[in-house]
Amino acid sequence: MDPRKFFVDQDIIRAQGLPKALFLDPEFHLRTQEIFKISWQFIPPPETDLRTFPELLAARGSWAPSRDRKLIITRDSYGTLHCFYNTCSHAGFPAVLFSGCGTHFECPQHGRKYKLTGEFASHTGLEEKMTANEKKSAGLYELNLGLWNQFFFVNASTAPPKLWDFIKDMHNVIGLLALNRFRRSGEIKEMERVPGSPFLHILNYLDELHITYIHGRSLAKAVDMKSYRTEIYPWSVLQWVFAENPQYGFDPQLLPERFRDAAKRVFALWWFIFPNMAFNFYPWGLSVNMWLPTDRNPETTIFYRHHYIWDNDKYAGRNEFWADSAVNEEDLAAIQETTRSIKNPSFLRQNKFLPDKEQAPHWFHRRLYELLFEERKTVIPR
Ligand code: FES
Ligand SMILES: [Fe+2]
Repeated sequence: MDPRKFFVDQDIIRAQGLPKALFLDPEFHLRTQEIFKISWQFIPPPETDLRTFPELLAARGSWAPSRDRKLIITRDSYGTLHCFYNTCSHAGFPAVLFSGCGTHFECPQHGRKYKLTGEFASHTGLEEKMTANEKKSAGLYELNLGLWNQFFFVNASTAPPKLWDFIKDMHNVIGLLALNRFRRSGEIKEMERVPGSPFLHILNYLDELHITYIHGRSLAKAVDMKSYRTEIYPWSVLQWVFAENPQYGFDPQLLPERFRDAAKRVFALWWFIFPNMAFNFYPWGLSVNMWLPTDRNPETTIFYRHHYIWDNDKYAGRNEFWADSAVNEEDLAAIQETTRSIKNPSFLRQNKFLPDKEQAPHWFHRRLYELLFEERKTVIPR
């Protein structure tokens, strides 16, 4: 893969984007795994229990698996939180399937026990045959855990960047919302495998231009598109717009001065956190999205979508007034079409950006270029 072919200029006027067909390339897919590994990822909460992670882990000596059971989070007897890969060192079964509390947890497959610090504790019938070193290395693999309000994040790198560097600009804008009091709804499908590369999903999310077309009968009718704004930060992007009908906008007192207007109200604040998370704030609450690549297939994405309710009455109107499910379905259908169509060999390789409408897609293309192809790689701040 020749990096010179994929130059994305910092200047949006001169820049050409990465070819979309690249997102289907297996080599590119492999390269990008590293970006997901070194960045912070939202930890999806357990499927069957609507309590928040801080509630599930309030007591010393408690644990909870993530929604996909890839991770386990514990609070040890000193009160310290840990995050581990939820893979038993004996034969690879998940070390826990459900949340619980106690001094140890026991793998449901053959009974290996672990301390809440992730260390090997015991394994009846086997431990007598294990050397001290084998026991030492039979602990669970620990990862970096990040916290922001009720939300937990994981980072698999050995020198993780600061989570705060990614979320501080969002925090500074929505700091007045009582996020710890938002309740997860559990009413929607929270995890599904969807067609299309995660990068197509992300670029679609960052694309203002498509709203008038793809969401012409839904979102575009509910907002005042002339007021649409995109704000670019080092590791995040904010898109926001005023509501067509102020009745469906935010209470201006909850937002900083610059979002206040005599007659208009903010419809939504759509925050994208590099490289693959979105925190979408509405007057009814919050929708957290995450697009994860699958291990081998560049044409498929694991799409996480969680709703957190702030106002129950408004949440009941999320589809009627905030076009929630229509926008989701329209986006998924559009990305499926694009995934099919970019395989066409006549597809034009590069595209330019509209300077006043495509700052966010340009920013994302440029970030990918810097991290994947630039000779002196931009290092994510640590
Ligand atoms: S896989 Fe966990 S004890 Fe065997
Ligand atoms: Fe969309």
